[in-house]
Amino acid sequence: MALAERGAEAVVTACEWHGRPAVAKHRNRRSYRHPDLETRLVVERLRAEARLLERAAGAGLPVPALYVVDPAAATLVMARLPGETLERALRASDGARWLPQLGELLARIHAAGIVHGDPTTSNFIAAGDGDEPGANAGLAVIDFGLGAATDDDEQRATDLRVMLESLEAHHPELAAREPLLAAYGAWDGAAGVLERLVALEQRGRYNLVRG
Ligand SMILES: Nc1ncnc2c1ncn2[C@@H]1O[C@H](COP(=O)(O)OP(=O)(O)OP(=O)(O)O)[C@@H](O)[C@H]1O
Ligand SMILES: [Mg+2]
Repeated sequence: MALAERGAEAVVTACEWHGRPAVAKHRNRRSYRHPDLETRLVVERLRAEARLLERAAGAGLPVPALYVVDPAAATLVMARLPGETLERALRASDGARWLPQLGELLARIHAAGIVHGDPTTSNFIAAGDGDEPGANAGLAVIDFGLGAATDDDEQRATDLRVMLESLEAHHPELAAREPLLAAYGAWDGAAGVLERLVALEQRGRYNLVRG
């Protein structure tokens, strides 16, 4: 990764933690109009993200190990994952090979009782075999800042929809929908979610036609 990535509202900086490659994710207050409220929201999101990371790790999901939670500094420190964002990995000539893994990983996240909240291609890290000796090749998931602990099919369907829209917007050439949904659909819990997805999408089209 670049030394510092500035996302929507977080600044992610490469650092070390007891000699291990790490990143520090710092969230700024967005506005100075309601400083107390903003500070409280930032701290709540930070704690929620930390809780979800721990829950995901406990379920055996590929997430960065959490090293430090520092609400006063609005900062999380976690393991720095080798590899590149899925957004970049999908641009390689064999990029489509990641799609089944992506669908399967989203199903595993949902099966663990977690809804990600922002499952776009920049919130997954893809590592190839050659990325780091001894490191696991494959996909990992980051950025649970908008996530929730829930088994709600409607929220799961919204995750799927955001992921499909992110893929269709940034990688239309991949025709990602089928491989993604086929892999997601292999999970026992998928049927109800896929039904909700169709309903969500129909509602979206209906609203579009009505203007
Ligand atoms: N643990 C990590 N290992 C490697 N790279 C990371 C890690 N965490 C973040 N990054 C890099 O930094 C970028 C931004 O991180 P992240 O997605 O967590 O923040 P954000 O999108 O700004 O957050 P939010 O959506 O919560 O405001 C990622 O897309 C990725 O490139
Ligand atoms: Mg992000």
